[in-house]
Amino acid sequence: MNKERKLVIAGNWKMNKTVAEASDLVEGLLLDLKDVKEIDMVVCPPFTALAQVSQQILSTSLRLGAQNMSQHASGAYTGEISAQMLKEFSVRYVILGHSERRQFFHETDELVAIKAQAVHAASLRPIVCVGETLDERESGTTEKVIETQVRGSLAGLDAAKMADTIIAYEPVWAIGTGKTASTGQAQEVHAFIRRLLASIYDENTARLVRIQYGGSVKPNNARELMSQPDIDGALVGGASLEARSFAQIIRSCLN
Ligand code: 13P
Repeated sequence: MNKERKLVIAGNWKMNKTVAEASDLVEGLLLDLKDVKEIDMVVCPPFTALAQVSQQILSTSLRLGAQNMSQHASGAYTGEISAQMLKEFSVRYVILGHSERRQFFHETDELVAIKAQAVHAASLRPIVCVGETLDERESGTTEKVIETQVRGSLAGLDAAKMADTIIAYEPVWAIGTGKTASTGQAQEVHAFIRRLLASIYDENTARLVRIQYGGSVKPNNARELMSQPDIDGALVGGASLEARSFAQIIRSCLN
């Protein structure tokens, strides 16, 4: 596929997979995807499987991501995980502000922006999630909601850090529901985000930022979504939990 930006396809395993299950999944992925170089491939297991997966993907083209990170460096923050702890396992990417964290753990744009700074300070790369709910889409406020989230969650990043940040557009109504945004609907929001980045930063920065789509991405819809000019990758939930379907998604986007 001829893309302006290199595709980045990440699997967000959410709260799934024991160490043994994670190991099997990665073994399957490596069998199928060993030779793939044209797409940046990332797996984001739960924290408890990072050590195992990190060992398995050493010297392969699979990269490791985390699903969250503390904004603090260390100290009395029970239950939290720091950047340094992630770096011990060669984590490269950190998902921030996923809609599930916004909804169930009350994460705000302000917190996501602080975390994004901490992720960059540790030389890791954030994947910052934004997306509207069904109510917001139906009431015609999608662009307003996305603009508020983009401005708020990325506040304070300079142009160089912005260029090295991935945005994941995940319409909340498409997550885990089997309802994908149509390619037209997705492309429209991606183009809106890129125009917004050009107005906040500049054309060049906006051109460099990779914007992933997430929400019921499957082997049968990935290629069409990825063929849109402003869709530069995918953040995959359910279909990343099986080696076959995640590998099919990636393979379907080659060439
Ligand atoms: P599904 O692919 O299961 O809809 O999940 C999308 C998602 O939330 C990825 O972060």
